[in-house]
Amino acid sequence: MRQMIAGNWKMNGTLAGIAAYAAALGQGVAGVDLLICPPYPLIGPLRAACAPGIAVGAQDCAVEQSGAHTGDVAAGLLAEIGASHVILGHSERRADHNERSALVRDKSRTAIAAGLTPIICVGETLAEREAGEAETVVRAQLAGSLPDGFTGLVAYEPVWAIGTGKTATETDVQAMHATIRAALKKQLGEPGETMLILYGGSVKPTNAASLLATSEVGGALVGGASLTATDFMAIAEAARR
Ligand code: PGA
Repeated sequence: MRQMIAGNWKMNGTLAGIAAYAAALGQGVAGVDLLICPPYPLIGPLRAACAPGIAVGAQDCAVEQSGAHTGDVAAGLLAEIGASHVILGHSERRADHNERSALVRDKSRTAIAAGLTPIICVGETLAEREAGEAETVVRAQLAGSLPDGFTGLVAYEPVWAIGTGKTATETDVQAMHATIRAALKKQLGEPGETMLILYGGSVKPTNAASLLATSEVGGALVGGASLTATDFMAIAEAARR
């Protein structure tokens, strides 16, 4: 199975920085799928600047297809400007915008109908982990966020590991990815057996190789380290097998 290394630029990046970033990625890394999700206004320019084999995606999309929804961005428009993927249900959106799993599920349907591949994020907070509820929380997020017949990817991102420099241990990652795999099989049947499960949370060039070699880890969703092309490429190299 090819691994995917996805960059989530969050609210970072500039138009002026696109050309150098795309040049540093070059043709990417053989045998690894690369995806960059910049802020909306940079999707078109990044798509134009990157090699065709490097995918460009969005960090969110509207639940409605079109209409009077000021400030929202339609999945169909994202596809039209060259996005192939969309991150949905990121913990920062769940926290900052009060996004619930039911909304994530509906956005996922809209995205798939527009031809986008969703990457649905799940993950527990530190309090939930310390209370021994991590697996229950993640299972509930999967049950609520994935529509019937879901096609796409899942990203496990423990909230306490995002942007903190703390990564989950390989044992924790292995256990949670196994839990997610079991839930995907139960919910989706056969497609759940091979769906990629990315790990996210302080993935860096120094820890990527061991995380990516952990069983059921199908790639990484990288925030901070994706802002520097050389770091992002180093993580992609670690995915090469
Ligand atoms: P981080 O972010 O790599 O900066 O921890 C990951 C994410 O939120 O997707």
